[in-house]
Amino acid sequence: MKTGLTHSVEIIKAFGQDNRTGYNMVPATRLAQLGDMHSLVDIDIKGYDYPWPLEKWRDLTEDPTCVIVLAVLQVEPVGVCVWQKRPAVKEAEILRLTTKPAYKGRGIGSFLLRTVESEARENGLQEMIVIVPELKCFPGHPDDVSQWLLKRGYRAVKPILTNHFYMYGSKCDGFKFASSLIGEKDA
Ligand SMILES: CC(C)(COP(=O)(O)OP(=O)(O)OC[C@H]1O[C@@H](n2cnc3c(N)ncnc32)[C@H](O)[C@@H]1OP(=O)(O)O)[C@@H](O)C(=O)NCCC(=O)NCCS
Repeated sequence: MKTGLTHSVEIIKAFGQDNRTGYNMVPATRLAQLGDMHSLVDIDIKGYDYPWPLEKWRDLTEDPTCVIVLAVLQVEPVGVCVWQKRPAVKEAEILRLTTKPAYKGRGIGSFLLRTVESEARENGLQEMIVIVPELKCFPGHPDDVSQWLLKRGYRAVKPILTNHFYMYGSKCDGFKFASSLIGEKDA
């Protein structure tokens, strides 16, 4: 799959060289296929406290509005992003974005984010949104995602989405983050 992205020196350094070939190991992205179902569920369970059931993943593969992008290192799937196209409102939403625990903090999440933003832009969409459970918006907490998104150009948008998620047996509010796909990043 074409990503239109080049790898930064940092991401190449992060993974070093393949012992057998001596080549730099660089992550790539590709569209997930039906044969990836096991990997998708595996990565999701490890990344989320509220993983999707297998049926949901199956439905997504048949949903023409949804795109499932895998990050792979050599051939190993190490991260996944699911995003949805909403052309009527020129908007895209990230429904899932996670990196396998062993690969966190090495640029895979940022790489996936930039890849899907680029794809959404190519589809003529103007804004990317992500809805995050309130429980993942406590700066300083190990599970915090809010600072990660803010650092990558996203802003928090009101109103708070009341009872948007169901986690740990109870309802939980959602915080919406958005980032423009046009303007400066287009230049
Ligand atoms: C949010 C998430 C996708 C980020 O993925 P990632 O591959 O770790 O992302 P990156 O490597 O690009 O960036 C991680 C940041 O944490 C830092 N970091 C360092 N060590 C780390 C570690 N062991 N684990 C996580 N982050 C680490 C990195 O330096 C980087 O810092 P920066 O924001 O100052 O650049 C990942 O933490 C995750 O899967 N979270 C659980 C699922 C989730 O909540 N997703 C949110 C959807 S928006």
